[in-house]
Formats: sequence, structure tokens, C-alpha cells
Amino acid sequence: MFETAWSCPSNIALVKYWSKKEGELQIPANPSLSFTLSACTTSCHMHVEAKPDDGNFSLHFTFDGERKPSFIPKILTFFERIDSLVPWLKTHHVTIATSNTFPHSSGIASSASAFAAMAQCLSDIHQQMGNQVEDPLAFASELARIGSGSAARSLMGPCGVWGKHADFEGSNDRYSIAFADIHPIFQDFRDTILIVESGKKSVSSTAGHELMVGHPFAEARYQQAHRNLSKLKDILMHGHLDLFYALVEEEAMTLHAMMMTGNPSYMLFKPETIAIIERLREARKQKGLSMCFTLDAGANVHVLYPNSEHEKVLNWINDEVAQYLENQRYLCDQIGNGAKRIDI
Ligand code: PMV
Repeated sequence: MFETAWSCPSNIALVKYWSKKEGELQIPANPSLSFTLSACTTSCHMHVEAKPDDGNFSLHFTFDGERKPSFIPKILTFFERIDSLVPWLKTHHVTIATSNTFPHSSGIASSASAFAAMAQCLSDIHQQMGNQVEDPLAFASELARIGSGSAARSLMGPCGVWGKHADFEGSNDRYSIAFADIHPIFQDFRDTILIVESGKKSVSSTAGHELMVGHPFAEARYQQAHRNLSKLKDILMHGHLDLFYALVEEEAMTLHAMMMTGNPSYMLFKPETIAIIERLREARKQKGLSMCFTLDAGANVHVLYPNSEHEKVLNWINDEVAQYLENQRYLCDQIGNGAKRIDI
């Protein structure tokens, strides 16, 4: 019997991963970089016990203490895909109990934190069983990537770089590496997530990535991501806030532009998303508030800013944008360092 427990945060991409290489298992078409978060986390407690090898997986899964049959197929597909890396999965009964710190269906994608936490537990148990792992963090990140691409970046912080890029030594398509050489202004950066819509996304990320196959702007987008990553490295190292804001917003707009100009076309912005972006740009220009936005594949707006601006930004949110939010709801998060062991 082996057991372990870990918590892993979500992450927010600054340079976006949006497209997989065809015919490969979750290999990105372009490199990406994210801030690792710290408040929005998934905790995973895993327990495994030997069973006869009947060629099948045996899984007991709970979320917040309740069985969730709807999650099982996704996890079994994940197990199938990682079977060659953790070959003991079919000879053990696996019990997984997870919970999230962020509210359910808040519109915050939980796949990154959930797959990262499960992958970290699997990697830990793999080592407890006596298997040699050369680079445990890389191994956990590789497992996480196979679950959900962006999950690869959630294991480490303050930034995760996933996908091969000439300026980041050791970067590669299989797993994420940490990037920590960042200016003090970024070391306690904030991400306040404005909840415009908490329902299910109207496009799954799998369908979204597929839109890039044969997309007329795909090649230009991949080159832009490479250029932006080079620029972002310098910006993060030197603390150039204005350049950071321009680049991060360009990336968010490009992600949505790719969706809008895809075939089929998806528009995930809501009128409230646009209103918030306009208010934000106005407040930055007229009130000198130091902040910018980024977006995931959805309508919610991530507001990024230095810790020193926290009070001013919260006042601005409460006074000027709360009216656009679902139940006036937002979540406060901050840059963090990735996976944490939970004492059991
Ligand atoms: O990890 P996936 O397959 O759900 O893709 C996530 C893609 C974005 O969140 C939109 C961008 C990113 O890099 O995280």
C-alpha cells in the first residue's frame, strides 16, 4: 500500500499555448509561459493497493467527498495514455480524493491544477515503489502534460515555460521548466479573476486547439509566440511594466482572434468582457492604475498588477466593474511556486 497527498495551483498563461502538433500526444505547436498561481489549487490524496493484473484499471474517485462518475472517463483516458510511464497502474487499485480551493463552476478551469496534482501524486508513488526517476519535477510535469497540456506548467513557479524555445535553456516540448529569474516587481504579482460567466465553456479546449489545424494565420501565430517569448523573458527580468502590459494583452487578443477567425468560428467574449476591457484601459490611461488584462478560452477577465496596486485595483473593481460580474464575483490570486506536499 502506498499513499501521498499534494496540492497544485492553477496557472495563467502570459504567452498562450493554443495548438498541438498533429498526430502527437499533447505536444505544443508553440512554446508558452505562465505565472503559477497560489490560491486557486486542487488537493489530491492518492492511495494505491496491489490487485491482480486483469488488464484493467481500477479507480475510485471522489471530488469534495462525493463520487463523480462523470469525471471517471477522463481519468481513465489519462491512465491509458500514461500507462507506459507508470506501468504499475493496471496492477493496483487506485483511490483518488480531490478538492478545489476555488468554487466549483466559477468559470475557472480546474483541469490544470487537477491534472498537475494527480500527476505529482503518481510521480511520488512511482518513486516510493523504488523506481528511479532522474528528474522528479520533469517526470511529474510530463505526466501532467499528457492529462492537459497547460497542466505541465502548474508544478513549478514562479513561471513555467513549456515548449522548446531558443532563449530558454532546457526548454522542451515534453515537460515544463521553471523560470525564476524575474524582477522583484513581478515576484508578488497579483491576478484577480473577474467572473463574467461561470457556466461551462462553449468550446472545449480540445476543439479549440483543433481550430488551428489549417488555420490561415497559424504559422504567423507560432512565429509571434516565439518572438513574444523572447521579449517577455527580457521584460520579466528587467521589470518593464508597460511593455509587459502591451505584450500580455496582445497575447490575450490573439488567442481570441484565432478563435473568432477559425472555421468554425467561436466568439467567447461576452459584452461584459468587452466593457471590462474598455473600463480597464480607461482607468489605466486616466487614473494611472497600473494593471492589464489577460483571458483564457472564456469570457472571464484576469486582471494582472503589482501587489502595491492591490487596494486601488480592488476599489476600481468594486466601483466600476462589479456591475458586469456574475453575482459581483471575483477571486483574488497571486503568483506562487507550484506543487506542495500535504502532510498525511
Ligand atoms: O491545457 P488545455 O488543453 O486546456 O489548453 C489551455 C489553453 C489556454 O488556457 C487557453 C492557454 C494556456 O496556455 O494555458
